[in-house]
Amino acid sequence: MRWLQAPLRGGFMAAESVFNRAFGDRLNPLYHLGTISFFLFWVVVASGLYLYAFFETGVAEAYGSVQSITERQWFAGGVLRSVHRYASDAMVLTMGLHMLRHFAFDRHRGFRWFSWVSGVVLIWGVYVSGINGYMLPWDELAQYVITASFEWLDQLPGFGGTLMRNFIYPDSVSDRFFSLLSFLHIGVPLVVLLLLFVHVQRVPKARTNPPRPIMLSLVVTLVVLSLLHPALSQGGAADLGRAVTSVRLDWFYLPVLPLLDRWSALEVGMLLVGGTLLLGLLPWLPPRRRAGAERHLTVHPSTEAIALRDGETLLEAGLRHGVPMAYSCRTGGCGVCRCTVLHGQVDPGPFQPGALSAAQRARGEVLSCCATALSDVEIELPGAQAAAPAPGRYAATVEAIERLAPEVIRLVLALPPGQRVDFRAGQYIDIVLDDGAKRAFSFANAPGPDPRIELHVRRIPGGRFTTQVFERMKVGDTLRFEGPLGDFTLRDGEQPILFVAGATGFAPVKSIVEDAFARGVHRPMRLYWGVRKPSDLYAVDLVRGWQREHPNFRAELVLSEPDPAWAGRRGLVHEAMLADHPDLRGHEVYVCGSVQMVQAAVPAFLAQGLGEDACFSDAFVPSAVPP
Ligand code: FES
Repeated sequence: MRWLQAPLRGGFMAAESVFNRAFGDRLNPLYHLGTISFFLFWVVVASGLYLYAFFETGVAEAYGSVQSITERQWFAGGVLRSVHRYASDAMVLTMGLHMLRHFAFDRHRGFRWFSWVSGVVLIWGVYVSGINGYMLPWDELAQYVITASFEWLDQLPGFGGTLMRNFIYPDSVSDRFFSLLSFLHIGVPLVVLLLLFVHVQRVPKARTNPPRPIMLSLVVTLVVLSLLHPALSQGGAADLGRAVTSVRLDWFYLPVLPLLDRWSALEVGMLLVGGTLLLGLLPWLPPRRRAGAERHLTVHPSTEAIALRDGETLLEAGLRHGVPMAYSCRTGGCGVCRCTVLHGQVDPGPFQPGALSAAQRARGEVLSCCATALSDVEIELPGAQAAAPAPGRYAATVEAIERLAPEVIRLVLALPPGQRVDFRAGQYIDIVLDDGAKRAFSFANAPGPDPRIELHVRRIPGGRFTTQVFERMKVGDTLRFEGPLGDFTLRDGEQPILFVAGATGFAPVKSIVEDAFARGVHRPMRLYWGVRKPSDLYAVDLVRGWQREHPNFRAELVLSEPDPAWAGRRGLVHEAMLADHPDLRGHEVYVCGSVQMVQAAVPAFLAQGLGEDACFSDAFVPSAVPP
């Protein structure tokens, strides 16, 4: 089994690394195979409901109604027929890959047996529903699928020829039987839906929707494919008076039927039953994990010892016990779930090298979504994740919306009289959207007597909340949020401070710098602010003002895109800082920007002498997890 798992795992890791480079870890479809399958199910249901409204379930009418849906309203019913078909094909593919990935990474044993076995049953449910779907257009393919399937079933013990009696002569197919086929095409998916929810029950904090950009791209791909290569009926209407001699089979769904021409019904039956049993029993097949003594996980500063289930990752155990651990991909690709092992031994598990640097590994950090315990383990989460008290919940009014740059808006939020948020400069809040999803934004103002909150919002193409801010938000609107959160705050010390900010990563830096000025911090401070183009430097006058008024503060503005009118510095902002500081020993660095920027910058800083305990970062993770 290991011999099989190792190359599969290597293949997945290589493919995921390529996809990470292409889409970024947040939108890597291989990290969302389960949720994509879930989403495709809804696409199949929605398109199927439309088709059902126009489908006639009588034997004489079925073929004609499907043709009419396809041809007369090709722009709606025709496209949706193809979307329905391709989404169910894609669902089989993503479910298969989802299962294969869990097998490759040995995530199907122990307590995961339940999800695995329910997944095997689910695949069968989807197949039965799909094969049933081939029968409804009542074309030549339907005739072949019905006769081949029912002839086969009739030869198995139990049916005794009762099914094929309905298909010997054209007259033997009754409307009632045909209505039964249609009813099954609704009933079986309902069972599949129930099973889908059962399937995720044992997964702590399971998500059932992929990120929106993935949903959108899936829908666009399905529609484009449907327009370019529509799914059509094969041949004319089914005619039981003549045999079907040639059909094109969809290998996703119908690989078994041609086998019946070569093997006996019993052999094919044994292949399917045996294959299903083998799949279902995989969690208990060798190599068995050696059951050791019960292990425990302690997440500092809590002293509670969580009993670990066999094969359970640290993240799964923590989430199961309600520990607020940060995560995103759950597959070792993004690095959001980093934690430090204080005591005990862990197997770090397989992960992408970019998610955890060698320096981080050397300091005892692991990815909690991949690591499993080899003994009792004590871990510490980065910053104040675990130690912070539960964030407060607030409802604020939008007091001002100011366009700072074409792509940046300053939002000012006012709390009800008497309320205020006690935060530290550099922390952030989670804006809570209508469906409970969260978006993290740093405080851009320093803490002080004014209870209002300033946020800098940069437009993210397709971003739900940022689109709302840029296109629909009005003064007086209410925003719900939770906070304060995070630990990207200025440490006490004497070392010179270097800030490296990318785009609106300037917001928490502004908060920290203004707070430092207000508190009379005289340590040398140097800001490197990197943006794409001059218009993105939305607070350049403010920065120049700081420079004039505070001799301990200097700023470097760096543009990453070429601009002939720009005489200042160019390139990547962290490289500009590295060029000015060939030796970072004795400095303290605060870096804030996109995940990609932080992931590129931090290892480079450490390689240039920066102490590991003197590097603080805050990466934008545009999802419902703390950065
Ligand atoms: Fe992404 Fe663990 S690496 S959540």
